[in-house]
Amino acid sequence: MLTSTRVCVLDIPNLDAAPYYMPIEADTPFPQIRIPSGHAAVHLTRYEDVKIALGDPAISRTLCNVEGGPTFLPGTTQKELLLNLDDPAHARSRATISKDFSPRGVETLREVVDATVRRGIADMLEGKRAPNVFASVLEDVTSTAVCHILGIPLQDRPMFQQWSRIIQVVPPDDVAGIEVAVKACYSYLMEFVTGQRAAAPDGFIRRYVDNRRNMHEPLDDAEFVGVLLGILLGGDHNALSVMTKCVYTLLCAPSLWAHIVGNPTRIPTMIEELIRLIPIGKLSAFPRIATREIVTSVGTIPEGSVVYANVFLANRDPEVFPEPLTIDPERINTKPHLQFGYGIHSCMGPALARLEISIVLNALVAMAPSMQLDADPDSLRWINGTVLRRPDELPVRFDALAGKSPHSIHASQS
Ligand code: HEM
Repeated sequence: MLTSTRVCVLDIPNLDAAPYYMPIEADTPFPQIRIPSGHAAVHLTRYEDVKIALGDPAISRTLCNVEGGPTFLPGTTQKELLLNLDDPAHARSRATISKDFSPRGVETLREVVDATVRRGIADMLEGKRAPNVFASVLEDVTSTAVCHILGIPLQDRPMFQQWSRIIQVVPPDDVAGIEVAVKACYSYLMEFVTGQRAAAPDGFIRRYVDNRRNMHEPLDDAEFVGVLLGILLGGDHNALSVMTKCVYTLLCAPSLWAHIVGNPTRIPTMIEELIRLIPIGKLSAFPRIATREIVTSVGTIPEGSVVYANVFLANRDPEVFPEPLTIDPERINTKPHLQFGYGIHSCMGPALARLEISIVLNALVAMAPSMQLDADPDSLRWINGTVLRRPDELPVRFDALAGKSPHSIHASQS
């Protein structure tokens, strides 16, 4: 049994981002913040209150996505995006993906993701790729899965990744650049839907388009591309950001790495604990507008209020997660974390993200158990976007453990 594997998340350099909002004085029972669009928002931070707000059927995302609406982004986004739809439009669009993105649905990707990961590790160990676990192993994992699930060509990756990276990084002053990138992504996906580009017959796009004539009230092209945009953007960089920070955290805390090297069966628990504490970027959920009063533990939020349900802080609520800042690989949660959101807009990709991260950690543990960070963590280059935030490099070395049991390394870090 390993001991001393409980590391404080604040000790992982640069992992937490500075808040992307300003607390403001408010004459209300609940705290308020100013978000980047200039709006004041009710700031919910307790686990139960975040659930109440995100789970309220009368809370709107559509009302936020209008010119001058409350947002963390420089402008509005495609109105057909799942994240911008309220029910019943949301339920109709969301129903299209439930099967492919279920735990069973994403299992079809296991083989291709595993092969991509193992090839990257093998090439890195043999010196054919740089000893940089981000560039040589992680960078292509999520985009490979997205290409397979959608049925779009792998060779298009450099093209769509450059757009999705601009969108995810969201430089606050480059509104025009983001608009160009969103339009490019949108047109690219639309061309598969309309048949101007050829999508693979067994991929999600072709299967939906081919079956549409048999469906009751199928999505039109624009609605369907709204769903696809979420997959292309969320499926690639969101999961990559969290996956990279999971590996980074384990490299910064060798006792945690040793824990899973010595106990690979504990990898799923470790993943859940890391996901609880690691957000994608500087924000963890998008703002909402209350279309009726919402009763929370900190007061009744009036109709019409902008609400920011802070998932990041809810996951650190001491009433739900004792010693919330401790990365405890043996933590037994009585309640699930909210890192994938809650309510109708809860993430559609948890099964895929968990599959990918689990394949990566299992392969690294099996093939590169002696892996160590080969740089001062503070010296690493980071991508510091709004939606996306992660190290952009993870230099590693493999030799220092030769002859040592993984249990003996850094077992005292806590
Ligand atoms: C560890 C990785 C991921 C995390 C932590 C994450 C987190 C989240 C969160 C918190 C939301 C809700 C936002 C809100 O309510 O304002 C969300 C929604 C969403 N995510 Fe993810 N996500 C991840 C991976 C993915 C993947 C792999 C995909 C796609 C394959 C994806 C696609 C989406 C989409 C389309 C939505 C909007 C869903 C809707 O409105 O119905 N995400 N995600």
